[in-house]
Amino acid sequence: MQSTQQPGTRTVQKESDVINLILEDHKPLKKLIKILKDNDKDFDKRDQAFAEFAPLLINHSKSEEESLYKIMKTNAELRTLAFEGDVEHTLADQMLEEIKRTEDQDIWSAKVKVLAELVEHHIEEEEEEMLPEYKKESTLEERARLGQHFLTLKTKMAEQGNEDSPSEARILQ
Ligand SMILES: [Fe+2]
Ligand SMILES: [Fe+2]
Repeated sequence: MQSTQQPGTRTVQKESDVINLILEDHKPLKKLIKILKDNDKDFDKRDQAFAEFAPLLINHSKSEEESLYKIMKTNAELRTLAFEGDVEHTLADQMLEEIKRTEDQDIWSAKVKVLAELVEHHIEEEEEEMLPEYKKESTLEERARLGQHFLTLKTKMAEQGNEDSPSEARILQ
């Protein structure tokens, strides 16, 4: 008797591997970073990109902190990288807040560009150092479990809305 074809556990696990989910999540951020860094793009385009970028970044970073970074901190080899990641997230948060309060267009542009470069560098470090190091120290099963948690956190945060997100505050100005 033939058994029903079901996707293998490994395939399912790979799809929810937290590393793959984080890499996917970085893609829209990278696209927006390109626009934010481009001084030739008109202000409205960058303003629009920023309004999209801010909540995406907050949602991504907080979910990452509560899943990947949390587990990395339990490993002696990985904790330093996770703490460095935290510091960069905090810097980005502070800059988002500052940009929200900035009214002068030129100063706004300068701050947005620096923020975009900071996040670009942070993403590079995650992709080239943090995620490969974590992969070496983890099993696919663990990463799949963590991936599920990452997705739950992201959904929860999206549902809570971004009432206090910098982009929204800026639109209201
Ligand atoms: Fe991050
Ligand atoms: Fe990330």
